[in-house]
Amino acid sequence: MPSAESVGVAGRAALALVLALVLGACGGDEDDPVARGEAIARDVGCIACHDAGTTTRIGPGWADTWGEEVPLEGGGTAVVDEAYLRRSVTDPTAEVREGFPPSMPRVPLADEEIDDVTAYLRHLAGG
Ligand code: HEC
Repeated sequence: MPSAESVGVAGRAALALVLALVLGACGGDEDDPVARGEAIARDVGCIACHDAGTTTRIGPGWADTWGEEVPLEGGGTAVVDEAYLRRSVTDPTAEVREGFPPSMPRVPLADEEIDDVTAYLRHLAGG
């Protein structure tokens, strides 16, 4: 039967281990544009309208969107790439994907944040 004190020590050791793992994971995120991009998409609310998979929410799911040529409202097409993402975020009504409401908001992201979100979306589409 372990004494109450030894349980306390084991508990604290376990807590320290969990903390080390959590902090380690966060440290790793800072070096990984994909993880940063995912955090940005979550923090600024993109994922309220965009599923990371293929499900259509208010906007198209991201997994089957990146790199695709999509039809635009009013005719023409656009390839969903970094330049298109940049336009979608800074001037959302300039090009609206056919069949969707023009409800993509203007999101004030810094250039580096757009780079990170780009890395994340590219990652979701498989590279
Ligand atoms: C209020 C809902 C909403 C939010 C929040 C939102 N979007 Fe959108 N998004 C849409 C809709 C609707 C479309 C399709 C219409 C269009 O092209 O404007 C779209 C289109 C896009 C497209 C073009 C994809 C395609 O297939 O045409 C990209 C890329 C995109 N969003 C990225 C983002 C990113 C990154 C964020 C966060 C910074 C974000 N969106 C936040 C609703 C939203």
